[in-house]
Amino acid sequence: MPVTPTDPLAPVLRDIESAHGLPNEHYTSDAVFRVESQALLFDNWSGVGFECDVPNNGDVKPLSLLGVPLLLARDHDGAIHVYQNTCRHRGMILVQEPKKVHRVIRCPYHSWCYGLDGKLEATPHVGGSGVDCHESVDRDELGLVEFPVVVWLGVVFVNISGTAAPFEEYASALLERWQEFDRPVFGNAADSTFQLAVNTNWKLAVENYCESYHLPSIHPGLNSYSKLEDHYHIEHAGHFSGQGSEVYRQLVNDQQQVLPDFDALAEKWNTGAEYIALFPNVLLGVHRDHTFALVLEPVATDRTIEHVALFYTEEGAADPQYQSIRAENAQLWKGVFEEDIGVVEGMQAGRHGPRFDGGKFSAVMDGPTHVFHQWVASTMQQFQAD
Ligand code: FES
Ligand SMILES: [Fe+2]
Repeated sequence: MPVTPTDPLAPVLRDIESAHGLPNEHYTSDAVFRVESQALLFDNWSGVGFECDVPNNGDVKPLSLLGVPLLLARDHDGAIHVYQNTCRHRGMILVQEPKKVHRVIRCPYHSWCYGLDGKLEATPHVGGSGVDCHESVDRDELGLVEFPVVVWLGVVFVNISGTAAPFEEYASALLERWQEFDRPVFGNAADSTFQLAVNTNWKLAVENYCESYHLPSIHPGLNSYSKLEDHYHIEHAGHFSGQGSEVYRQLVNDQQQVLPDFDALAEKWNTGAEYIALFPNVLLGVHRDHTFALVLEPVATDRTIEHVALFYTEEGAADPQYQSIRAENAQLWKGVFEEDIGVVEGMQAGRHGPRFDGGKFSAVMDGPTHVFHQWVASTMQQFQAD
C-alpha cells in the first residue's frame, strides 16, 4: 500500500479544540530554525533594537540578526538608518562597537569612508599611491547597503529581505488598536534597558508572553492584584496576539511619586494595560505612564537574548527627578520577566520528549498561543509552496 505523506503542520491549523501545537522540530532542529529564520524573521518586520540605542545624532551601534551584521545609525539630521555593517570593498566589518561618528565611518582595513547617509565618500589610494579615485570605482554605486527600517513605540523594525508589505500595512490593525500610543515615546538607555539570556527557542518566549493562563502559578505577585479573571484575550490572526488587564496599578514609590502620564489617553487606560506580541519577535506592553518592548534576538535554535527597554513621556524619560522611580519600574518588570525564564526553558527541554505531540490547547485559555502557532504554520507552508 502506498504511504501518503501527512503534513506535520496540518494539526496546527485545525480549530483550537482539535489542534495540536507546533511539532518538536520547530524548537529543536537547526535545519527548521534556519528555514524559520528566513520565512518568519527575514521576510517580515523583525525588531532588532531600540531608538534609544543611538540617542544622539552621529551615534552608531553594531547589532546583528541571526548572524547578519547590522549597523544602527542616527545621522546628523536625526534620522535612523540600519545598514549592513559590511564594507563594500573587501567585506570588512565596519563598526565593532558603539561610538560617535563625527564626520564619516572609516573602514578599519583600507580606510574607505562612508557618510552617515550611507554614501561612499572617500577611497584613499584606490587608484595607486596618492590617487584616491579610479575610473572603475563609481562611488555613487558603492554606498552602504541599507535595509527598510521603521521606528514604532521606540523599537527599530527591519525587513531584511526587503519583500514585506509596508510596515503601516503589516501592522495596520495594531496601529489602529493602539492609535493613542502612536506617538513618540522616550527611552533612557542608562536606567531603563536590560537584557536576559534565556536557553529557549525564541518562539516559546512569544508563546509565554501572549497568554495570561500562567499568571496565578508563575506570577503570584502580579496575580495578587491583577488577577486572571481581570484579563482578556487579544487575537488578530496573522499579525498579533496577547492579553489585556483591566486592573493595572501605576507604580507609586515611597515618596508617593508617580511617573507622568501620556496625555490625551482614553479613560480605560486609567486602570487598563495591554500586552501584545507583534509577530514575529517583538513583545509590547502599554500603560498610562510607560510602554515597554522586548526584542527577541534568536541566537541559536535553543538560545535567545531578550532585549528589554521601557519608554516614557519625554519628561518622564529625561528628568532626573524620575531617575529612581524609572529604575524601580525597570527592576519591577525585570523581576516579572525573570519569573518566566524557568518555564520557557522548561518548555524547551520538554520538546526533546520524542512522543510530545505539540500539546493540547485549552480552548478557553490558549487562544492567543494558538493564533501564533497558526501564523507560524501558515507562513511556513506559504514559504515552502513559493
Ligand atoms: S575592506 Fe573596507 S576599505 Fe578595504
Ligand atoms: Fe509571564
